[in-house]
Parts: sequence; structure tokens; C-alpha cells
Amino acid sequence: MKYAIGAILGVAFFAWAFSLCSPAGKNKTGHEYMPDMYHPVGYEANQYSAYYWNHWDDKSTFTKAQLSMPRGKVNGTIPRGYTAAYYGQDIGYVRGKNADNAIAAPVNGEAPFYYANNEDDRLRCEQQMTDNPYPITKEGLDRAKNLYTIYCGICHGDKADGQGWLVTMPDTKYPAQPKNLIGDDMIAAGNGRFYFAMMYGKNVMGGYSDKLSFEERWQVLHYIRSLQAKSKNLEYSETANTLSNVEKPAKGVATGPARAVVAPPPPPSK
Ligand code: HEC
Repeated sequence: MKYAIGAILGVAFFAWAFSLCSPAGKNKTGHEYMPDMYHPVGYEANQYSAYYWNHWDDKSTFTKAQLSMPRGKVNGTIPRGYTAAYYGQDIGYVRGKNADNAIAAPVNGEAPFYYANNEDDRLRCEQQMTDNPYPITKEGLDRAKNLYTIYCGICHGDKADGQGWLVTMPDTKYPAQPKNLIGDDMIAAGNGRFYFAMMYGKNVMGGYSDKLSFEERWQVLHYIRSLQAKSKNLEYSETANTLSNVEKPAKGVATGPARAVVAPPPPPSK
């Protein structure tokens, strides 16, 4: 009798123990005896995870909807569709210092550019890329002056009036007239038009995406804007911007006029 009870209890124990090894489901590993890292604990996007699923107190109790939201962006990354954000006075944030709402741009690395090399996208880029993510700083303008002189001035000229050495040099005939970048049309042009030109070039002008970093392109653009301001006797510096109200001086306010909204590109022709 003693043995019979022992045997029944023993069988019941094993039956119970086996029932613990519940089968694995779609998003469950199931219970196993010593899984020994057979299954990865990878997190899937947009799934609520047990880790966040806690109810210790009111503050840490979230709804399923909240828990299945995408997690906050990873520091130092840029969401699709953004180039970078403007962080007020502190350029450190743009350079990759992490803060709660800072989206850092890699200084010398790649930043996404979602435009194809065609005329519709040139227009689309001008329309959508309106702001310069970097504040106007003296240091940035100084650096960009060098970059401009090295990469652009030879054609566009030191004043950006399109009279570079390559066109004014005696006894030469450069095949195309470099654009006058301080003309009224280019003063009114959106930042995206310049940025696009630096990425892809235009006709005989080659692209500079492999020569200028993300930040350098924007700094060169600041420098070109400063030359535009100079030609109109306006100020474009660390302390003031009377050329437009778009680019923000690091230690002042932009008081210039608004830039005209660029018309959307025509619908694609069949
Ligand atoms: C080898 C000569 C050359 C160099 C160097 C050069 N460009 Fe150009 N650029 C041109 C020519 C030529 C055009 C006119 C292209 C056309 O309209 O066919 C032009 C046009 C442009 C335009 C007007 C594009 C538009 O939308 O109409 C911008 C902006 C520009 N260049 C910016 C720059 C910047 C910034 C640099 C330096 C990073 C630079 N260029 C270097 C020759 C040059």
C-alpha cells in the first residue's frame, strides 16, 4: 500500500513536471527544461514586451497600445525624412551630443538624402529642405570660407558672382557660365536648391557629395548666404541675420524677410 501511494504520487509528479514544458507559440518560447540559449531573446519591432509590461505602481503601468508603440529613437540617429534638427544656441547638440530631443547629425559621416538626380527632385528638394540645421557661427563661416575657396570659388568667384578664375582667366573659354550665386533669384532660392547642387552638381558642374561632409555643405551654404548679404549691404553673422528670417544666428535673432515658398514640382508627365 505504501509503495502504491508512492508510485501514484511519483507518476503524478512527473505528469505535472512535464506539463510545465508547455509548447512554444508564435511569440513564445514555451517552457523548457534548461533551454541553454537555444532560443534568442530578440525583440521584435512594434511588439509589446514583457520587460516593459510591469505594474509595480501607477507610474509604470502602461496600456497595451502605449507598450506597442515604437520605442524612442536611438541617440545619434536620424529619423527617415529628416536631415537634422536645429537645437537653438548649442551647436554641440547638432554635432552628436545626446539630449532628450536631440537628433544628432554625423559631422563627417553620411546623412540620408532622399532625392534622385532629376529636375523634379531638384525642385522637391528646394521646397522641402528649407532650414539650415546649423546656426550661423563665426567659426563655421571661417571654415566655410576656406572650403568655398577651395571647391567653389574657382568657378563661382570669390564674391560668388559667377566670375571665377576659370572663366575670367585670359585666353580661356570655360564651356559654361557658372551660376551667379548672389543674383536675386539665388538670394530668393531655398536652401535645398543649393544643397541639391552640392550633392549632384548641374550639367558641367560636378557633385561635391564625396568632398564635403554633411556639416561642411551646410556651412558652405552659410558662407554663400553671407556673400549674398554682403552684396546687398546686409548682415549675416553670428549675431544678426538681416538677409532672411530662416537661418538662425548663434547669438542673435534673424530679422530678415521670409523666403518665398517654392512651388511644388509639376505632376510627373506620362
Ligand atoms: C568647375 C566649375 C564649378 C565649380 C568648381 C562649382 N560649380 Fe557650381 N556651377 C557651375 C556651373 C557651370 C553652373 C551652371 C550649371 C547650369 O545651369 O547648367 C553651376 C551652378 C551652380 C548652382 C545653381 C544650381 C541651380 O539650381 O541652378 C549652385 C547652387 C552651385 N553651382 C553651387 C556650387 C557650389 C556650392 C560649389 C562648391 C561646392 C560649386 N557650385 C562648384 C560650375 C561650377
